[in-house]
Amino acid sequence: MISPETIQQIQNRIDILDVVGEFVKLKKRGSSYLGLCPFHNEKSPSFTVSPAREIYKCFGCGKSGNAIGFIMEHEKFSYVEALRWLAGRYQIEVEETGASPEYKQQQQVADSLTILNTFAQQYFTKTLRESEEGQAVGMTYLAERGFTDEIIRKFQLGYCLESRDGFTKTALAAQYNAELLIKSGLTVQRYDQPSDNYRGRIIFPVHNPTGKILGFGARQIRKNDKSPKYINTPENEVYVKSRLLYGLYFARQAIDKQDECLLVEGYTDVLSLHQAGIENVVASGGTSLTQDQLRLIKRYTDNLTIIYDGDAAGIKAALRGLDMALEERLHVHLVLIPDKEDPDSYVHKVGAPAFREFVSSNKKDFIFFQLDVALKDAGNDASKKAAVVNQIAETLSRINKAEDFTRQQDYIRRSAEILRIDEAGLNTLVNQHIRAQVAKLESKKPGDAQAYQSASPELNPAPEQTQEEKDAFDLLNKEEANERQLIKVLLEFGDKVYEEGSVADFILAQFEDPDLFENKALYNILDLYRTQYLAGDKPNTKTFLYHTDPTISNLVINITEVRHELSDRWNTRDEDLNYDTIRKGYLKYLGKEYIVKEEMADQERYKEDVRSTVTYMQLKKIKKLMKENQKDMERAQSPELLAALAQTQVTLRDLALEMGTHLHLKELEIDMIRRLGTVIIK
Ligand code: CTP
Ligand code: MN
Repeated sequence: MISPETIQQIQNRIDILDVVGEFVKLKKRGSSYLGLCPFHNEKSPSFTVSPAREIYKCFGCGKSGNAIGFIMEHEKFSYVEALRWLAGRYQIEVEETGASPEYKQQQQVADSLTILNTFAQQYFTKTLRESEEGQAVGMTYLAERGFTDEIIRKFQLGYCLESRDGFTKTALAAQYNAELLIKSGLTVQRYDQPSDNYRGRIIFPVHNPTGKILGFGARQIRKNDKSPKYINTPENEVYVKSRLLYGLYFARQAIDKQDECLLVEGYTDVLSLHQAGIENVVASGGTSLTQDQLRLIKRYTDNLTIIYDGDAAGIKAALRGLDMALEERLHVHLVLIPDKEDPDSYVHKVGAPAFREFVSSNKKDFIFFQLDVALKDAGNDASKKAAVVNQIAETLSRINKAEDFTRQQDYIRRSAEILRIDEAGLNTLVNQHIRAQVAKLESKKPGDAQAYQSASPELNPAPEQTQEEKDAFDLLNKEEANERQLIKVLLEFGDKVYEEGSVADFILAQFEDPDLFENKALYNILDLYRTQYLAGDKPNTKTFLYHTDPTISNLVINITEVRHELSDRWNTRDEDLNYDTIRKGYLKYLGKEYIVKEEMADQERYKEDVRSTVTYMQLKKIKKLMKENQKDMERAQSPELLAALAQTQVTLRDLALEMGTHLHLKELEIDMIRRLGTVIIK
């Protein structure tokens, strides 16, 4: 856990312009900044950053958030990862709380290792570029393989000298301790002497998704070398092979944008594809994918395309882990590279456009690919074919989540075609497997099994939404729009003058009933505001911007209006957030026509906002009371109703005359609307 003090420190230091500006080119426009949205493709900028409000908002795709949220979204970080990234950027020391001494110790080792690795990477890169041996051996080799200077730089490649301890000596002299050097795998004990582990090799640094160096792959380049082709970092506190993917740091944005991740085997495959402009690519290091790696991919995309050599070993490695990918709900495709080539050699041979074309036209759905292989294997053997049918049914039964129901049906239909068997029969078989899994789960964890069961489409079809439900939903949305507007007015104008007190005094006095709010989170904000306000604070949108409860911070960000210079298109977008729209919509909903009033003086405008918003909410209160009153028409003069009406500034004299029957209440409602109208209708 990162300590609250550290989080506070980070929040205080954050400059949203600086954070966003690292990834998006921004131009000043009025009080805010504009740029091309990094979250969707656009030609004219609709991405706005407000330094005053410390938020960003895209009027094209609707994404919005604070600086931490931006880093999370853009870099696909978790909250904690984003905090660590920001801490690193602003050189804030991260204090851990509640962690065991062992955990702290482990964290410290991890930190030391990544610092040492960075030092080593810089040393090896320098050696490659500046030493005579580095140029003559290392650079020559890389140039022969066709790697450009740009790619060599980007991937921070390096070279380790042939000498026994060139690096180790330098590191020891720089005060890195021997034990850490051994742990990092950079140094080994050879004949009792600390020696460089990667002597005479090309160095490929391996990064985590945030760009920290976790370890290295070191490729031999000497001819007739009997030692292994690659030496990799041993498992340690930061290098855990099953959890990393080579190249992800350089690929993550391309994966996100293209919504597809290409998976290859080796370091050089990644480099060559990048060089060819295909950047959404990572490498597994030749082993089959682990669940952690699949989840890592899943953070960025649902679409995984495995590109392997066509040899049997490659296929086998690729096929392992398929069921896990299905359980992670990834859509997996496979492309086999022909003629004993690998992606690296193939892209060099045919060029980038042909390579792309090959991949897109040879992409096979992984499930059908597996089916093909198994069917060929079975030949004419009937019992083997039956086993294939059963196997595919078991595989398809793993696509069991409600959202994937149509996908599963599609697979069943097409598999039945390929197998030339009856579709209904295969369907039954798949369902048998699902039931078997449910039963298995039930016997393990009764609670979980139920969740599983309700997630299974076959047992629990999603009900159709009725018109009535849809109407109720629409109405809810409208009511919520009012509530949002009320909170927005409170946060924006809370400390401005209103009647005898402030806007906050006025609003807080009238809304103490959580039941008036459809969206309880909005009421929570009001309640938090009240607590802080009564304690003498003056809360505003920023107060809730970094609230630990994301529903609260997201809501506040959502209702915060960002001012910007409008292009025509934006103007219409902006209406979503605009008070006038809500007002118009509400009147329309009540069957009233509207005419928008003349612009009023800007500085007085907030009063109008406060008055109208509060009145709408009061109207709702009256409606609520009316509903209750309807049940008990005789007892009409409920004190609550009187109080509510008093607050709407309808005089008590009027009330006394008009109260009593539902009909009168109806009239009051109309009167209320008329009153609203006197303000907004000419
Ligand atoms: N690998 C490894 N140790 C080895 C051989 C391979 O860790 N002794 C891993 C490396 O991550 C390597 C990947 O498996 O990148 C694929 O192996 P291979 O195809 O043999 O290497 P390439 O990366 O293609 O290297 P090159 O093109 O230079 O032969
Ligand atoms: Mn290769």
